[in-house]
Parts: sequence; structure tokens; C-alpha cells
Amino acid sequence: MTPDKPLLDIPEDYQLGLRVSEEGTVISVGDGIIWVQGLPSAMMDEVLELEDGSRALVFLLDPEKLGAIVLEQKATLSSGISARRSGRRLDIHTGDSLLGRVLDPLGQPLDGQPAPANGERGLLEVPSPPILNRDFVSRPLYTGNRIIDSQIPIGKGQRQLIVGDSGLGKTSLAIDCILRQQSEDVICIYVSVGQTRSNVATVIETLREHDALSYTTLVVAEANELCGCRYLAPFAGCAIAEHWMQKGRDTLIIYDDLTQHAQAYRELSLLLHRPPGREAYPGDIFYLHSRLLERSTVLAPQYGGGSMTALPVVETKQGEISSYIPTNLISITDGQIYLDQKLFAAGILPAIDVTRSVSRIGGKAQHPAIKKEAGRIRLDYLQFLELEAFTRFGTRLEPAMEAKLKRGRVLREIMIQDRLSPVDAGAQLAWLIAYNEQRLDDWPPKQIGAALGQLQSGADGSDLTLDSPREQWLKAIDHWLHTP
Ligand SMILES: Nc1ncnc2c1ncn2[C@@H]1O[C@H](COP(=O)(O)OP(=O)(O)OP(=O)(O)O)[C@@H](O)[C@H]1O
Ligand SMILES: [Mg+2]
Repeated sequence: MTPDKPLLDIPEDYQLGLRVSEEGTVISVGDGIIWVQGLPSAMMDEVLELEDGSRALVFLLDPEKLGAIVLEQKATLSSGISARRSGRRLDIHTGDSLLGRVLDPLGQPLDGQPAPANGERGLLEVPSPPILNRDFVSRPLYTGNRIIDSQIPIGKGQRQLIVGDSGLGKTSLAIDCILRQQSEDVICIYVSVGQTRSNVATVIETLREHDALSYTTLVVAEANELCGCRYLAPFAGCAIAEHWMQKGRDTLIIYDDLTQHAQAYRELSLLLHRPPGREAYPGDIFYLHSRLLERSTVLAPQYGGGSMTALPVVETKQGEISSYIPTNLISITDGQIYLDQKLFAAGILPAIDVTRSVSRIGGKAQHPAIKKEAGRIRLDYLQFLELEAFTRFGTRLEPAMEAKLKRGRVLREIMIQDRLSPVDAGAQLAWLIAYNEQRLDDWPPKQIGAALGQLQSGADGSDLTLDSPREQWLKAIDHWLHTP
């Protein structure tokens, strides 16, 4: 035997050494969470791989043990099995292959089609873009709603809350807004949290019927899902939208609804023994929603100029907007659209209460022509409401006041808008001019809807733009209103 021949054939660049890998043990399993012992270097938000193929996400670090959210639960998940760190954080598929798809918050398809092709991925939790990477909100996002686009305008990159009691049309408003994006280059993401399966199915069917799926992605965590899934859904939707925003695209994301999201977070926190605060929500519930909504913004031109507009939905009880979660969200967002029970009961649909709705930044993004025409309408309407309340006592009015009342009633008829019939910008300007020039005053209230329809089809077929001179618009309006 030759003395220089090595015992083992080891490659030269191989370095011998010890690799330490931690192995933990699941010590208890319950209601969508697990406790694990023996992983001292695990980090927050790290994915854990369990022996039976289940996965969990580190959510709470204690000196002796850690609490984790179950992401995928196999039937064999039980205490005693081993757990290993993956060194990775949770991410999801992103990119154009997701258009028209319905996914769960982990990126698994729920629409019966194959999983999205392997491609780019985005992390669920990332810091929001720094201030210097952002631009001002300066371009309008049309919702197709007559009241919103004129009185409570929304700009691209804005966060506008939809708030109202159960069943007042919050989801319908959000869906109409998605339908309106058909003629715009805006990608929509609809995140459904804690809704029943039939509600989700109705939304998907509506979008399909109106050919809106081709530019929409849905992220769904139903009411009967694990609380971890419901907690992660908005972040998954946000990561998907963020990818397009960074590619310079305009996106619209709807979180339907954040009350359910807050409740899922509360459930998780209580299960993991985190100290409860007001209404049993954990102390960082404000941070939960602010870090989510801060990720919606407009990027500066040197970063692609993309945008993410957010329409979070929150449910109130008995119209109480000063309860905990709604007030938090009102203070985080750039304005709110308030839906009112009394208007709904009176059949004024959508039941948007103009007096309590505001948009703090959208006015800057409104087209100058629309802004000019819409300027006085809100004030006129508020005066009308006051006058109407006053005349309930049977007061006799001067003719000028009578005229004001009459105009207010016309305005109220204009505000009534059917579901699934978004108005485009031209028709929007047309009704504003027609109203300001008193062209609708002589129509009987019940016929106002028909007049608006004439304006809409007139504007659709004409080549007038928002920048065309006002006289041309007025001439066209007179023509459209007199050709039934
Ligand atoms: N503009 C409208 N015109 C006519 N009906 C409407 C309009 N908007 C909403 N509705 C009706 O109001 C009902 C409730 O609407 P929707 O489900 O959107 O409310 P929601 O606030 O999302 O309810 P939930 O709290 O259960 O999620 C639906 O039956 C819908 O058809
Ligand atoms: Mg709803």
C-alpha cells in the first residue's frame, strides 16, 4: 500500500466541518395553531416544515417555546412530531399568469385549474415603499359611480375606505368599481376574507358574466378556513398587486372585509395567549392594518410610476363608525365612503351618505372639467337636505326656496344608480353640465333615469372628450336629451 494515497477520495475544495441543524418538537396542536419546543434560533415570520409535510409560520417567540400558525394541515399533524426551520419567509406566485385565477392565500388554485406556472414570487410581508420612492396622487381612478366620481373622487394610489352596516351594498360598490376598469388599464385584485362560499361564488359569477375576470385576480379565504389563512389573505393579495405596481402598472385592490381580518387576527392572538386589549383585540391591531395599507401608493416615475389603489371594506354595527376597528381604519385611510341604513331603506341606492363621506386627496386628481362642474353640487345638496328637513313642519316657502327644493329632488334622482352599470367619464361630465345648466329640471322625477340613459348613450357614441369646449358639450346634450 502506497503511503501518499488518501483513504477517501475527497474533492480538494471540500471543507470538512460540522453543520448544526436544530430539530424541534411540536408540543401541542389546536385550532389552527401549534406550539413548538427546541428551535431557539427560529425567527418571526419564518416557515417551519413539519415531519408529516404540514407547514406552519412562526408568529410568537417565547423563551422556552414558539407559537406558529398552521398553513397546511395534514391529517397526521399531532404533538410529538418533529419540526425544522426552513430559513425562508412566506411568499406567493405573482405575475400575469394569475389574471383570471382564484387562489387561496398560499397561492393554491381554488378554481380547479392547474397551479400557476413557476415564475416570479413576492413576499407576503415586506416594508412599504420609502417616502422618497413615492409620488403624489395625481391621476384619477374612475369608479363609475355618479356620486363618488363627482363628489368623493378617488385618485390612483389612494386608500379609500368603504364603511357601512351589513347588507348595505359594500361589496356591490366594490364590484362595480372593478367592472368600470374594463376600459382602463387597471389590474384588479379582489381579496375576500371570511365570507361565505355562496357570497364568494356570486362575486366570481358576476365578474365572469361581465368579462371582468380577464384583468382580475381573486384571493379567497372563506369563513370556514383556518384563522391563519384569513389573517394572511390581505397580505397575499397585496404581494400580488405589489408585483404589478413595481412593473409600472396601475392596480386596484379590494379588501372585503377588514372587520373579518381583524377578527381572524384577534382569534390567532388569543389562541397564542397574547395579552388582549380593547375589545379583546391585541395591542398591535392598528399596526396590522397600517402596515397593510401603507403598501398602497403611487411610485415615482424613476421607479416605474405604477400605483396600487386600495378600497378596504369595513363593517359597522348600527352605523357606529366610532367603534374600534372602523375608527382605526378611518384614521389610516385617505377618506371614506359611508353607506347609510336610512338611505338604503328609502330605496336610494347606492346608499352613499354624501354628508359623511370624504376624500382627502382625490380632488387633486380630478379632471379639471369635472372638478369645475362638480364644485357646487355638494353644497347645493347639503342645503337641500337642510331645507327638506325644515319643510317637514309644513312651512310655506318662497318661490326661490321651492325652486331649490325641486332641484335637490332632481339631484337625488340622479344619485340613484343601478348595480353593474358603471358610468364612464364622458357621461359623467354630461350629467354634471346638464344639471348645472338646468336641463334636467323639467323632467318628471321618475323620468330622470331615462334622461341619464340618453346622455350616456349620446356620450358613448360621440367623439367629444373631457377637454372639448363646454359649449360643444352643451349643444350635444340638448340634442341627446331631445332625441329619445
Ligand atoms: N345600487 C344598487 N341598486 C340596487 N340594489 C343594490 C345596489 N347596491 C346593492 N344592492 C343590493 O343590496 C344587497 C346587499 O348588497 P351587498 O351584498 O353588496 O352588501 P354588503 O354590504 O356587501 O353585505 P355584507 O355585509 O353581507 O357583505 C344586495 O342584494 C344587492 O343586490
Ligand atoms: Mg359584502
